[in-house]
Amino acid sequence: MPPYLTKIATQKAPILIVDAFAGPGKFGDGELGSPQIICQSVEIALSKGLSVNVSVMCIESEEELFKDLTKSIESFSFATANHGEFGDYIDEIERQAKNHSVFLYVDPWTVEGLEWERMDRVFQHLNISNMSIEILLNFNAPSFVRRGLAALKLSIPESDPDIEDAEEIDAPFATPPSIERLNLVVSGDWWKTILSSTANFSSKVLDMTEGVCSRLSKRFKEVCYSPIKAQPHHTIPKYFLIFASRHPDALILMNDQMVKSRKTLAELAKPKEPTLFEMRPTDLVPDIETLPEVILKYVSKPTQRGIVILNIIRECFGQFAHKDIRGCIEQMLKDGKLRSETGKVRINDNVKIFAARKSN
Ligand SMILES: C[S@@+](CC[C@H](N)C(=O)[O-])C[C@H]1O[C@@H](n2cnc3c(N)ncnc32)[C@H](O)[C@@H]1O
Repeated sequence: MPPYLTKIATQKAPILIVDAFAGPGKFGDGELGSPQIICQSVEIALSKGLSVNVSVMCIESEEELFKDLTKSIESFSFATANHGEFGDYIDEIERQAKNHSVFLYVDPWTVEGLEWERMDRVFQHLNISNMSIEILLNFNAPSFVRRGLAALKLSIPESDPDIEDAEEIDAPFATPPSIERLNLVVSGDWWKTILSSTANFSSKVLDMTEGVCSRLSKRFKEVCYSPIKAQPHHTIPKYFLIFASRHPDALILMNDQMVKSRKTLAELAKPKEPTLFEMRPTDLVPDIETLPEVILKYVSKPTQRGIVILNIIRECFGQFAHKDIRGCIEQMLKDGKLRSETGKVRINDNVKIFAARKSN
């Protein structure tokens, strides 16, 4: 939130942050929920003199949780608690998207409650206005796949606590979710082909996430996702954090935040005794030694450094921070593995770089 608010304020439009599946604001154990996290960040930004107005719209469907939410955020004058379903507020969000920068945080437990076509009405403003819309979606792909398999009357794999977060798995479905309902969630029945294939559960989960991203790509220029695992050794993520924006700057900003979070998790997963080799999985501790090879893929012809960095972030979202990629390019220029069109090592993003020709 803090870097997003600072950056988006430069657009000069008022900001609307929507927490579409808000929850109680603060959990029973005292842990802060997303409405509190958002509101506290906004309060700090405003106290530091943020140049535009911000409003926070929190939506919660459960009566009791809505009451908790109302209490939890009552001291923030810029925030409102709204009772009902996300879908009921789409008209209002659509109206505000015409003159606000909108950040939409969508965090349902499962996939129920998502309605693609209605959400897409807000995204359509991308095509008709200059306003900025970002979406951060917690897509519970394992839950969608389980529901989809049940709806198609296909077998659902037993949960295995060694490879996924078994606690969070939906109870067996008394009434399987209907195909029509799932069609509404992701807009269309394209998911049936993925789920009916012979691929394993883990591949179906990934293919569903990529399918959702490709639908978002119709509206947003930049779409990326990051798997969120309950335990470092799990092979099936608990859910996927999907981020979409039309601004490359937002992608860079989100990438750097994901790198920071990943480093925090990597620190937690550090073995108690020091080990000679890195034992943690590469999705938690990416191998920086592989970065030069990735860079070389994007410099076969002279390309502006800024574009090269962006392409690497698109390919390796959440793995390498912007400054690490820049640093690696600089080192490769120093080592003569790359050349710049100015012949210098210290360059800006507009300068083209290319692979140095190997001498015989
Ligand atoms: C995963 S929880 C949200 C947690 C919250 N984002 C946080 O981090 O503190 C999802 C919440 O959405 C609520 N919910 C479910 N369906 C909804 C809908 N269609 N519209 C709005 N809220 C809904 C649930 O009652 C639940 O409190």
